Amino acid sequence: MTELHNFIDGLPKAELHLHIEGTLEPDMMFALAERNRVVLPYASVEEVQAAYSFSNLQEFLNLYYQGAQVLITEQDFYDLTVAYLKRARADNVIHTEIFFDPQAHTVRGINFDTVVNGIARAMDDAERDLGISSELILCFLRHLSEEEALETFSIALRHREKIIGFGLDSSEKGHPPAKFQQVFSLAKDEGFRIVAHAGEEGPPDYVFEALDLLKVDRIDHGNRALEDAALIERLAHEAMPLTVCPLSNLSLAVVKDLADHPLRRMLDAGLMATLNSDDPAYFGGYVNQNYKAMQSALNLTRDELALLARNSFEASFISEGRKAKLMARLDGYLAQA
Ligand code: ADE
Ligand code: ZN
Repeated sequence: MTELHNFIDGLPKAELHLHIEGTLEPDMMFALAERNRVVLPYASVEEVQAAYSFSNLQEFLNLYYQGAQVLITEQDFYDLTVAYLKRARADNVIHTEIFFDPQAHTVRGINFDTVVNGIARAMDDAERDLGISSELILCFLRHLSEEEALETFSIALRHREKIIGFGLDSSEKGHPPAKFQQVFSLAKDEGFRIVAHAGEEGPPDYVFEALDLLKVDRIDHGNRALEDAALIERLAHEAMPLTVCPLSNLSLAVVKDLADHPLRRMLDAGLMATLNSDDPAYFGGYVNQNYKAMQSALNLTRDELALLARNSFEASFISEGRKAKLMARLDGYLAQA
């Protein structure tokens, strides 16, 4: 068992579902609150951690948006992103595709440029200094209107060289993909990649909508797709990647017990699942802890772990040339580990 956990530690992998605002660790939250003179409703790091007990997605999101209020300057976004990239690199993440929620900041009067410039500068520095490549995916907040998403999209076009794709996150129930058909159609026409959270709390119909109306390249989560046999068959047939986040699912009561996690059924059905950390500062683990938790709960074999890492590169938005290089690093590891 520990042998397979050591194998996970060294396994080269990509992370494809990671909200940068969800990497805000309590100690950084306090440091930035002090730096920016923001008053937090907590007295200590322990009090913050005690507050991280959620019954559903919305309870988490309330604290996630509250925490994000300490992020004010470009340097704050830079520091947050550098800290994540270092932590990810320590887990042998050699490529990562980072979500950011600019509307969580622009609604507070923070400039879009401040957010994206801080994150992008950290990504450039980490590629040079740590050897981790990364891409940026802008997520629209689905509890806001499509009009607001369209406004954000038009601002984002000024930074198109920094952004590889667009996604959809925040409160899923009551905010189906259909609500955002127009903005995703514009993004697709402009050549961007498309992803959407679907089937985390929402029904299988939302996964169908993400496929048919938004024309996604990946589904984020997708757990509830397993409730529909025709959908499972379609996801398998299209080799549609799913970015699965087990510790998130446990924290948000999407699954009651990791032993019942749908990853087992996804793999058995031949779906292209990947493992990711979602919001690691809130859910108690970075990507390797997600691999290890699933290995222990589902008895994943070495071959299954290797497949999950292979899927992470296959489902990424990197060029075929870089993909071949990263796959070769994985093959090199498997040959000697
Ligand atoms: N924003 C940050 N994490 C999220 C999640 N797991 N689901 C929906 N929106 C999110
Ligand atoms: Zn997410």
